[in-house]
Amino acid sequence: MAFPKDFTWGVATASYQIEGAYAQDGRGLSIWDEFVHEGRSFARQTGDVAADFYHRYADDLALVSELGIPSFRFSVSWPRVLPGGMANHPNEKGLAFYDRLIDTMLKHNITPYLTLYHWDYPAELARRGGWTNPDSSDWYADYVATVARRLGDRVKNFITFNEPACFIGLGYNKGTHAPGQKRSNKELALMARNVMLAHGKGVQTLRALVPDAVVGYAPNCGANFPKTNSEADVDAARKSYFTLTEDNWLMSAAFWSDPVILGQYPKELESILGADMPPILADDFRTMRQPLDFYGQNIYSGGCVESDGMGGFRSVRMKEGFARTAIGWPVTPDSLYWAPKFFTERYGLPFVITENGMSCHDWVSVDGQVHDPNRQDLLCRYLRSLRRASEEGIDIRGYFVWTLLDDFEWDTGYNDRFGLIHVDFETQKRTIKDSARWYAEVIRTNGDCL
Ligand code: GCO
Repeated sequence: MAFPKDFTWGVATASYQIEGAYAQDGRGLSIWDEFVHEGRSFARQTGDVAADFYHRYADDLALVSELGIPSFRFSVSWPRVLPGGMANHPNEKGLAFYDRLIDTMLKHNITPYLTLYHWDYPAELARRGGWTNPDSSDWYADYVATVARRLGDRVKNFITFNEPACFIGLGYNKGTHAPGQKRSNKELALMARNVMLAHGKGVQTLRALVPDAVVGYAPNCGANFPKTNSEADVDAARKSYFTLTEDNWLMSAAFWSDPVILGQYPKELESILGADMPPILADDFRTMRQPLDFYGQNIYSGGCVESDGMGGFRSVRMKEGFARTAIGWPVTPDSLYWAPKFFTERYGLPFVITENGMSCHDWVSVDGQVHDPNRQDLLCRYLRSLRRASEEGIDIRGYFVWTLLDDFEWDTGYNDRFGLIHVDFETQKRTIKDSARWYAEVIRTNGDCL
């Protein structure tokens, strides 16, 4: 048997990357709106219109249905439903949009997977200190309550946070993502603590308001794999996920997952941060660590790792001319075998690939079609690895392709096309790519055609 009978197949999207309508129907601004309007994004490109999903969602969901994709991951834009970020001033028109979106999914028998936070943080809350503010986790929990009360009768699958390592690491350390800042370790660690508290309070809120909710988390990591199958190399690869160093602590898998699943910071953190350690109050870990129904990971690639012969690990250089996607990421199908294995060993939760896919220089060919054999090949290789892990008994529940539509790819704007459906950003015309039809067949056969 390849994948379990009730395996979840889906596509994933995010509000700011597709919705557009940034100033419509009472939506407030997010840190991304301000960042792009300050001209700080790639080629000054913005998500003002993006794929115009706000207006075209019905047609787009009809395409999802036509392709037979059963599950749709999307995110709610916090400032669209709470323009100032605070729950005491909801925006009825923003909430009504998500009502329509969900009702349209249900009409097509598409199961909604709702991500509560995929990076469009309310600008008003950022002015109050954002994730450094001691109230920030409560602001998030109140926002979650607003969403749960309004949509929880129809939505049952929730993801609290998408890639916290990225929105904190790229937004406040490297400064390549909104709001484009470079904060001290002390502030970064404090923000991370508040995000993980927010995660915990968000889960508690969902459990209270949507008793049959299925709740997960979607961090990301460099999904490394061993050079050989020797025990030493496998152990080295495993360590590379869960050992913190001075350079990688903020981007590491263990930093963002140990507290929320195991109820503690990784042991190296204190020696790395010293006086910059976040405050640890009595209830912190009890709040962060909430029972989860699944553990998600967004996985695109990873590095090859070998044993250093002394119980540690070192990375192996990629061969010259290695296969890579348009955005430059190496093609490493082994990531989808080893990551589920290592994460399941450590965390013991049902596993979901919440994102996987690639950017490609796709265009509409003379025959009017979009031929993207590289994407099809990459997805096939990665899915075969995932299948191997599943066949070995790892509890893998689902897989989501990133993404449905070509969209606003954060710091590379419209330069990187990750969609299964091509978007002409001048006309907003959609063209189904070959890989989408291929993925439809994968879904139809539950992976048997791989
Ligand atoms: C992320 C986000 C997506 C990206 C995708 C490709 O992983 O950064 O979840 O919003 O668009 O991953 O980079």
